[in-house]
Amino acid sequence: MNKPVILITGASSGIGAATARLFSERGYHVVLAARREDRLRALADEIEAAGGQALPVPTDITRLDHIENLVETSLAWYGQIDVLFNNAGFGRLKWLEQLDPDEDIELQLQTNLRGAILTTRVVLPHMIERRAGHIINMASIAGLIGPPTYSIYSATKFGLRGFTEALRREVGIWGIRVSGIYPGGVATEFGQHTGIDRRTGLRTPAFLRLSAEDVARDVYRLVERPRRMLIIPWPMRIAVWLNVLWPGVVDWGIQRIFTIRERPPRGLH
Ligand SMILES: NC(=O)c1ccc[n+]([C@@H]2O[C@H](COP(=O)([O-])OP(=O)(O)OC[C@H]3O[C@@H](n4cnc5c(N)ncnc54)[C@H](OP(=O)(O)O)[C@@H]3O)[C@@H](O)[C@H]2O)c1
Repeated sequence: MNKPVILITGASSGIGAATARLFSERGYHVVLAARREDRLRALADEIEAAGGQALPVPTDITRLDHIENLVETSLAWYGQIDVLFNNAGFGRLKWLEQLDPDEDIELQLQTNLRGAILTTRVVLPHMIERRAGHIINMASIAGLIGPPTYSIYSATKFGLRGFTEALRREVGIWGIRVSGIYPGGVATEFGQHTGIDRRTGLRTPAFLRLSAEDVARDVYRLVERPRRMLIIPWPMRIAVWLNVLWPGVVDWGIQRIFTIRERPPRGLH
């Protein structure tokens, strides 16, 4: 029997790279997609040295022609795609009026949301033909709760949540699974791209912070035991429920703990 194949976008670092290593250890062929070719090649070499098989395909997921090339190359090489992990993404976490319309706003929408949608659209006919497949979309807790300075990032991740839910109801009848994963803070290179400039330095408390390897294990568990959505770590579910049940209390708390301390209203200081 052929080995199963996972296609991972954003495989050049962080969660994507950790997921590629883990799935390879568990017997998958892995297709590695991201822009930094040197990183992809180094990871593919590492995976092959450990006895696995990896196909690096340099890809910018804001480009439809790159996505089409990625999927064609994967199918030509391995003949099938069993799991699509739409993971590529980044966040620019500043006040809305400070975000550049192109480099920050447009690029986040193009990468985090449109990139995942188009990659899915290109892979889907293959999964429909096989009447099998699993699509996992990397959202974030910020796809369930909108914190200040996350306006565009949250827009992309809330968007992914809607996309995930609607798609699941479109393709489930063909045996195609669609899941969303919603992690809190994860220690990766993500923080290097946010442009965060905070007065208070407020961060995810250490006991709630995940490693890329933690998330990779949860992605593997999702494939083994498919679920509609997975919120990690589990205490974050309490915050999500609070936000649903008492949004006014959450508004008040966030403004007191974060917003007022970060950007004091005129006249207070
Ligand atoms: N870290 C967190 O706290 C956290 C929490 C919740 C969710 N997430 C989500 O997890 C996902 C992975 O992030 P990470 O934490 O692992 O951060 P990371 O280490 O910065 O990885 C981001 C990946 O996305 C790729 N990427 C960015 N733009 C791309 C583009 N246009 N085309 C193709 N690939 C692109 C990057 O590769 P290249 O630069 O080589 O293209 C890189 O491999 C993101 O969707 C992020 O929103 C992260």
